[in-house]
Amino acid sequence: KRVAILISGGGSNMVKLAESMTGDHPARPVLVLSNDPKAGGLDKARTMGIPAQAVDHRRFEDRPGFETALKDQLIAASPDIICLAGFMRVLTPGFVKHWQGRMLNIHPSLLPKYRGLHTHKRAIESGDAEHGCTVHEVTAELDDGPVLGQARVPIMAKDTVQTLTARVLVQEHILYPTVLRRFAAGDRTPVFLS
Ligand code: GRF
Repeated sequence: KRVAILISGGGSNMVKLAESMTGDHPARPVLVLSNDPKAGGLDKARTMGIPAQAVDHRRFEDRPGFETALKDQLIAASPDIICLAGFMRVLTPGFVKHWQGRMLNIHPSLLPKYRGLHTHKRAIESGDAEHGCTVHEVTAELDDGPVLGQARVPIMAKDTVQTLTARVLVQEHILYPTVLRRFAAGDRTPVFLS
């Protein structure tokens, strides 16, 4: 299976996904795309020997224009699976429909709680005892598709957004590769780590 990974920043999840696709793993990374030309993950991908391109969303006056450029890059790489990994652009329903069933995302909350942004801050301010991350299939509704995996972490009394973010990120780096390996083998049974 050919996997394209979309990023917007440092790409720590992309690195872990790429590192996991070795040996008898049913998938291989074929392309990394970023909407931000300055994304640190682009150089990390190139260092790992993965073709990496920026499609700067600021060069397009509208979302469909940006997505057409994304699609051109994707069609050239002909991925079987797309992994959104720290990708911070909302995709239109039209784009999502084209890849539905083959596109995954990781979101830093225990969905359906805390869709959208600032999830760690919201969990702390709600006084939740735990938080975590979710890998889900991408559908037209933001952060809403079928859950493929979740990992939970405790929220500690002295947690700040930074300490909680770091604790969740460790789990993201375990969860996403675990889910991708199963998904690439055709297994959509959800994984729950705690
Ligand atoms: C992470 O917090 C992740 O939960 C979210 O994007 C952030 C950065 O991810 N999806 P990465 O380091 O760029 O993979």
